[in-house]
Amino acid sequence: MRVLSGVQPSGLLHLGNYYGALQQYLELQHEEEALYFIADLHALTTVRDAAALREATFEAALAFLSLGLDPSRAILFRQSDIPEITELHWILGCLVPLSHLERAHGYKDKTARGIAANFGLVAYPVLMAADILAFGADVVPVGKDQVQHLEFARDWATRFNLTFVDRYDPQDPEARLPGSERGILKLPQARLQETAAVVPGTDGQKMSKSSGNTIDLFADDDTVRKQIMGIKTDSTPMDQPKPDNALHRLLQLVAPPARFEQIDASWRLGGKGYAEYKKALLECFHATFEAPRKRREELIQDRGEIERILAGGARRARDIAAPIIDQVRRAVGIR
Ligand code: TRP
Repeated sequence: MRVLSGVQPSGLLHLGNYYGALQQYLELQHEEEALYFIADLHALTTVRDAAALREATFEAALAFLSLGLDPSRAILFRQSDIPEITELHWILGCLVPLSHLERAHGYKDKTARGIAANFGLVAYPVLMAADILAFGADVVPVGKDQVQHLEFARDWATRFNLTFVDRYDPQDPEARLPGSERGILKLPQARLQETAAVVPGTDGQKMSKSSGNTIDLFADDDTVRKQIMGIKTDSTPMDQPKPDNALHRLLQLVAPPARFEQIDASWRLGGKGYAEYKKALLECFHATFEAPRKRREELIQDRGEIERILAGGARRARDIAAPIIDQVRRAVGIR
């Protein structure tokens, strides 16, 4: 099975990025053929600062590698290094009904927040479908907010195949029955992460960079300490049992299971104050992320090596995309 997913470069990663997505990606690299990329072209829909984009892209690659992506197994690449993606995005876009794009959640959310609609923002789901379809991915691990994008990708792949593959049968896309012909574009499956529900931020809302409530994976010790000690809690007295809240949930995510059981027992019993639990969280944070934090410090010294890894990833990724795009070109008549 071929697994593929992309992340937008957004600067320093936080616990929400890790437990919400990256942790699962890194596990999958051992089981499946895995392709992961940094969606720098998608970032261009909103970012206007070249240096910041370059830095955030580098940071994302650094994070993947520090957290254990093995570049000799998984393919790590930069979206903009793959011209096949942008080509497919155009070809696909010529089949996509505008009405689909007008009801895309991401686009509606952004315009509702007052962001002026540019073409890239409208085309965002088409580029994302091209990311997936160019590689014939079977499975795409994503968060809930991306499920509609996956449905679009499946729908548009079906339209493409129906339009350009004579005996394509949407009931039999892999042509298992005699008489039907296999689609050129493969229908991907979304894989929702169940355990990775929402990771709460320090204010109890969903952790996200734009909310300013993150606990950063790679910030300096002092910043991490401040972020963790600043987690909002209520005024439950020390001796009382504590209610479920963001701190409890974060401990559950970061502490090893046996340690969490201990913590949870006293949490329900009462007798300890929140400050003590925050210290436990800080300790567990460092125990869990000490090795990746060290590795990042080493890798950051060698930008050339990161570039070489991305270039190698791009070569392997293009080897997969090229034959698919070649079929696409022939099917539509530009070859
Ligand atoms: N839109 C995704 C996000 O915001 C990122 C992304 C771009 C992606 N292309 C993709 C995810 C292809 C999965 C597959 O998180």
